[in-house]
Amino acid sequence: MVSEKVQKKLNEQIQKEFYSAYLYLSMEAYLASRNLNGFANFFRVQAQEERDHAMMFFNYVNKVGGKVELGQIDAPKGDFESLEEVFKMALEHEQFVTKSIYSIVDLAQEEKDHKTNAFVQWFVNEQAEEEETAEYNLRRLQLVGTDGRGILMLDTELAQRVYTPPAGVQQV
Ligand code: FEO
Repeated sequence: MVSEKVQKKLNEQIQKEFYSAYLYLSMEAYLASRNLNGFANFFRVQAQEERDHAMMFFNYVNKVGGKVELGQIDAPKGDFESLEEVFKMALEHEQFVTKSIYSIVDLAQEEKDHKTNAFVQWFVNEQAEEEETAEYNLRRLQLVGTDGRGILMLDTELAQRVYTPPAGVQQV
């Protein structure tokens, strides 16, 4: 059993993870509309991972006998000015999610809820990776600027990304 406060935070996180999936799907659609299918593929895989994250929180709340409460998911931004805007926004969004995960850790520790604290540590590591990847992508994109050949090279590279379910966690 988790406290009401922890349960509320976990439910809010389910919502944030689904919103992340929604945001990345919106980015995928924008990139596909510009014929950048490799970039689009990157965000398709990213959106799938976010759905996994949402379901991991969902499963956890159920497992500890809590009550899942699903909130409203806002519409994400639908149009973007440039590739750079997409990647900047993706990085900022991951930084926002990291803060949110840290606040769950803080609350779990404050309440001496070791189980939730242990559960959420996976996400602490995951966020470090997500931010690293987002920063890496942004830096590479800034390196090529608006050079068409450079962009197509990155597009080919990002087309290689394959979805793999999170290691060590229940497949959802
Ligand atoms: Fe589930 Fe990218 O945060």
